[in-house]
Amino acid sequence: MSILSTDISKAVAILNAEELVAIPTETVYGLAGNIFSEKAIKSIFETKKRPFFNPLIVHIPSVEVLTTIASYIPAKAKLLADVFWPGPLTLVLPKNSTIPDIITAGKDTVAVRIPNHPMALELLNHLDFPLAAPSANPFGSISPTTAQHVNDYFKEDIKMVLDGGACQRGIESTIIGFEGEEPVIYRLGSTSIEEIENVVGSIQIKNKKDIAPNAPGMLDRHYAPSTQTILVDDLSKAVEEHSNKRIGVLAINKSLEHDAIAFQIVLSESTDLQEAASKLYDALHQLDKQDLDIIITERFPDFGLGKSINDRLQRATVNK
Ligand code: TXA
Ligand code: MG
Repeated sequence: MSILSTDISKAVAILNAEELVAIPTETVYGLAGNIFSEKAIKSIFETKKRPFFNPLIVHIPSVEVLTTIASYIPAKAKLLADVFWPGPLTLVLPKNSTIPDIITAGKDTVAVRIPNHPMALELLNHLDFPLAAPSANPFGSISPTTAQHVNDYFKEDIKMVLDGGACQRGIESTIIGFEGEEPVIYRLGSTSIEEIENVVGSIQIKNKKDIAPNAPGMLDRHYAPSTQTILVDDLSKAVEEHSNKRIGVLAINKSLEHDAIAFQIVLSESTDLQEAASKLYDALHQLDKQDLDIIITERFPDFGLGKSINDRLQRATVNK
């Protein structure tokens, strides 16, 4: 049975009844619930098997709503919101006292963004409350970039996936927090560092869990296939080393010939980093279904979205 639907009024009714709907965004699908409903928010954590110490992102329809979510907006946060919203950038700001502790894991900051997807925006405009929406995958596994991915994970657990097609960006939002007035990157994502630095000048990255206690979601192992996965600079060499196995390959721009390769995906023949990012998770989902002994992934050039893709591949390849 499929729970896919394009009916926005049905999604509104389910969310008004304090239940969950998976929603499309430009980055990945989110598992959404009313931020003010304890029942809905608890069910997000239970459905994902997500630990309560990991706070959620609040999704709002317009920048006017921001003042009801955050108690203070640094000048550079306002600037970033003006330039990048709606879009794949999340701001972590001091929270308004009306935001429930379960959303922020008891922290005094709240993460917030305006998603850039027409159906998500229409849905938010039909609701009297913002939506908390973590990626719609079980904790630690590969994020969903199609409605079908969510259906495969959660068809027994939720009533509906609002089907908005394949996500155009394909990697989660970039998360930015503030140390006083200065922005800091907590999570690399679909808005590149270069784009951000063009707006606010040079910016520090603090995305390791030991140096970024402010971003508890930055676990070493995440986005991970269940098949053993490695990240390499030299694909042919790695394939040779593992040639006694049934190998899956995730290549940047050209395919390899080798008898040991049972399944192979090329992310972008023209090395277009946005095209590669948008296909990344679907490729990992497909590779994970092929009954392989090992998945070998190729490291991207370390700039622009390549940096964000490498971050996800790095976390996908940390052993259990
Ligand atoms: O693109 C996205 O951001 C997607 C779509 C659905 O919007 N959402 C998403 O949510 O990736 P999630 O829950 O998978 O990741 C949220 C991240 C976690 O790493 C969490 O720790 C961090 O945001 N976060 C949330 N609130 C925070 C806070 N107050 N301070 C620091 N980090 C926070
Ligand atoms: Mg996630």
